[in-house]
Amino acid sequence: MSGSKILVAPSILSADFGRLAEETRRMETAGADWIHLDIMDGHFVPNLTIGPQAVEAIRPVTRLPLDVHLMIEHPENYLSVFVKAGADRVTVHAEACPDLAAVVKQAIGLGVKVGVALRPKTGIELLKPVLDRIDLALLMTVNPGFGGQAFMPEVLPKIEALRKIFSRHIQVDGGINHETARSTHSAGADVMVAGTYIFRAMDARQAIVSLRGDAA
Ligand code: DX5
Ligand code: ZN
Repeated sequence: MSGSKILVAPSILSADFGRLAEETRRMETAGADWIHLDIMDGHFVPNLTIGPQAVEAIRPVTRLPLDVHLMIEHPENYLSVFVKAGADRVTVHAEACPDLAAVVKQAIGLGVKVGVALRPKTGIELLKPVLDRIDLALLMTVNPGFGGQAFMPEVLPKIEALRKIFSRHIQVDGGINHETARSTHSAGADVMVAGTYIFRAMDARQAIVSLRGDAA
């Protein structure tokens, strides 16, 4: 995927939650491609974040696609509520889906782009039954649950292996900065999720440009 266009999806987990609308607009103005929303249930991951009401509140403030990352158990029970709230893309964790093919089918039926995420230690074999139906694979580069963690370089060979058999989006999420964006893009990733790196930057536009690297 070297030379392919890199898409940047700021994770609003690192935003000022008292000013979510302005923070979302700030990312659009700074050149973001998608807005990434991290939904955590306190069960699948040891943290709680936002629900569909927040997605609904953000929907009218931006024209960018809303990329909803569901770190929740039983995602099948919540897909339609997040789609109604305005999600354009929904990503479920394979580890949370005993019948992944059924969940993917359900999500596709709702008319959104569908992704499947894997924790750093989960092998890509789990994706194989749905690989021809999904638009995106999210290879987590930290253990999901919190922003601001260190990138796990052991995920790089997994990105390379997946890129050999999957031609759609490979997204990386966790510890992404201008250096890890370069190494994950060389391995085959094309969608960079970044929270801390973009929101804490003095200049969000410059941070986004730097994530696009040479492929900008
Ligand atoms: C972690 C979330 C990420 C997180 C990334 O579980 O899925 O989207 O916000 O944050 P940074 O870029 O700070 O590692
Ligand atoms: Zn995420």
